[in-house]
Amino acid sequence: MNGLLDKRLVIVVGKGGVGRTTVAAALARAATRAGKRVLLAQTNAPEGLGQLLGSKTAIGPSVTAIDERLSAVNISPKAALHEYGVLLLRYEPIYRAVFENKPMRSFLGAFPGLDYWTMLGKAWWHTTETQDGRLRYDLVVLDGPASGHAVAMLRIPDAVMRAMPKGPLARDASLTRALLSDARRTSALMVTLPEELPMRETVILARDLRELRIPMGPLVVNAMPPAEAADPTVAKVLAASTSAPPELANLLAGTAILAARRRDADRIVEGLASDPGLPMIHLPRLPTGQLGPEEVDRLATLLV
Ligand SMILES: Nc1ncnc2c1ncn2[C@@H]1O[C@H](COP(=O)(O)OP(=O)(O)O)[C@@H](O)[C@H]1O
Ligand SMILES: [Mg+2]
Repeated sequence: MNGLLDKRLVIVVGKGGVGRTTVAAALARAATRAGKRVLLAQTNAPEGLGQLLGSKTAIGPSVTAIDERLSAVNISPKAALHEYGVLLLRYEPIYRAVFENKPMRSFLGAFPGLDYWTMLGKAWWHTTETQDGRLRYDLVVLDGPASGHAVAMLRIPDAVMRAMPKGPLARDASLTRALLSDARRTSALMVTLPEELPMRETVILARDLRELRIPMGPLVVNAMPPAEAADPTVAKVLAASTSAPPELANLLAGTAILAARRRDADRIVEGLASDPGLPMIHLPRLPTGQLGPEEVDRLATLLV
């Protein structure tokens, strides 16, 4: 885990809804505690990060400072393309002339990977961004799109290099590609729930990441039901509960469900231990409806 905090780029990936954003926030928090300056970048995500980080304002397409060490951005492909275009062409009116005329726009619209490229390209660019003569961020945590989209996004640099082997786009794509496969600087952090479908998607995702030669960190198994529920004593109490007073019936039924969930989760974890076979970090399911900075803090401690 501490190795992860020393990377330049950590890409958080997994099935939709498994807790990627939550884990990305916890990781970013853990890194700032270790003294790192961190950018937490989302890829065109529905707003929710602001609440999680305790920010008064929503996190939009411009970088927002959360505190001294932590900044966040929700990358919008359109805004990122504009930024990138201006960066490449150096001058706003030229950007408008080149990118915002009708034929160019329909051409760009027909290039399906463009959104992925502008978002990944912007994340890469932030890993190289300097301020006062030094890197602006030690670590960029990229809260990626859900599995299939993430893999498509990570394949993009190769596609760009094939489509346009020369020029500034190819140069950036090849630098991005080199970063993605560099185990010293990059790690993909997979997140899953201890449930059947997320588990299956994790196995496929790990295979895809291997094929793409993207180094993988530990697998985070998020929202584990409490171990206490599967304690043998609980089983004994439940077995003897036929004669329990009716006031306890609901509590006992709830406990029985929790115990079954934990047993299922343990079985899933066993499967994950053999495939993809990565080291695992378990995070508990927190008993809170709406997560905020306190929960992120707690998960950051548990991560490390
Ligand atoms: N460890 C956890 N304990 C309790 N709730 C969690 C936990 N991790 C995530 N959640 C909740 O699950 C939902 C999905 O999490 P989120 O991080 O938004 O997933 P994703 O980014 O993968 O779609 C959110 O409502 C979040 O608050
Ligand atoms: Mg998310």
